[in-house]
Amino acid sequence: MGHKYQAVQWNGNKIVYDVYVVLAAGVFFAVFFIIGLAPHGSGNVADPIVLAIRALGVAAFAFLTITLAIGPLARLSPRMRPLLYNRRHLGVFTFLIALAHFGLATLWYHGGGPLNPLVSLLVSGQPGDPFPGVPFEVFGLGAFAILFVMASTSHDFFLNNLTAGVWKLLHMLVYAAYGLIILHVAYGYLVTESGMAAPAFVFGSFAALAGLHLATGLAEVGKDGGMSGRKGPLGKEWVEIGDPTAIPDKRAVIAPLPRGDRVAVFRDGAHVYAVQNACRHQAGPLGEGALIDGLVTCPWHGWQYSPRNGVSPAPFSERIATHDLRLEDGVLFVRSKPNPLGQDGAYVALGGVGSGA
Ligand code: HEM
Ligand code: FES
Repeated sequence: MGHKYQAVQWNGNKIVYDVYVVLAAGVFFAVFFIIGLAPHGSGNVADPIVLAIRALGVAAFAFLTITLAIGPLARLSPRMRPLLYNRRHLGVFTFLIALAHFGLATLWYHGGGPLNPLVSLLVSGQPGDPFPGVPFEVFGLGAFAILFVMASTSHDFFLNNLTAGVWKLLHMLVYAAYGLIILHVAYGYLVTESGMAAPAFVFGSFAALAGLHLATGLAEVGKDGGMSGRKGPLGKEWVEIGDPTAIPDKRAVIAPLPRGDRVAVFRDGAHVYAVQNACRHQAGPLGEGALIDGLVTCPWHGWQYSPRNGVSPAPFSERIATHDLRLEDGVLFVRSKPNPLGQDGAYVALGGVGSGA
């Protein structure tokens, strides 16, 4: 099972990563409080509890934005990949900060009345609200519920048991959570008098994140356009890769396939193999990894697969699909249809063609 992989367990690097995250949060809160408690204009000093609620809300949003920025940043620059390494801890940390924001806001604003604080929260809309009867906190609550589901299923145990497809779908809900937070803040701005600073930060961050995702999407389309990916003389099932000797040893080229998937074509000395590009773990780009000890090694968290049959080495049992290769007049072609999981792909031995099982 994947969750037994050493690369995704606690180790010194992860602790250092987490220490930096906690320090960053500490610095953030200190700056927020120093600025917030300073007398402004009228000489009024903000209530420290209200300030703490706001600080926690803005921090949760900032950490969520950073968590969502790491994926595209790592795609744009390999130097950002170390940030991916422990991204899930960042997600869980974000959830904990959101939990503190939610708990403190609920107790502070709804804990003193006759109603249960959670009931009071849900019925606290004012007649003049933009959406009458719907308090702005409800949008925050929706976002919080999504973060809760994500944080509680973040361990590889759930990844393996829910299957990668379902897990990925579940975790895509984070974008819905992000949208709900934007509504929570925009609506909150209209009905509270908390000032422009936090909403401006939230909308600025949202715009930067959207721009980053757009830039990454355009860069990936550009990369796909750069690969030939042409259909060759072998029929429409076969896609041209080009000169196999141009693939750097122990590395791969990534080629787009007609149905939108990608294939990674690795060269190991005189042998060339093709496997699906998406890693079984979190869809990391295998073709940007390398062959280490003869195994395709994912650049994101180090999961490994045999290039020949796509199976992880014992005691692991993850499988990715292989693709068949053929060499025609010195030009390499890959079959766009993947082989059934666990089946050897037909590989190419430069100077002769090898075959699968
Ligand atoms: C992922 C979940 C959440 C995030 C990221 C989040 C984020 C934020 C942000 C950025 C603000 C703006 C602060 C300002 O304008 O200074 C805010 C305000 C607020 N949020 Fe949330 N929020 C979340 C969930 C919730 C929930 C579930 C509640 C329910 C109690 C809640 C209650 C409030 C309140 C009462 C304020 C206004 C504080 C004030 O200005 O007095 N939030 N939140
Ligand atoms: S090892 Fe995590 S995505 Fe490949």
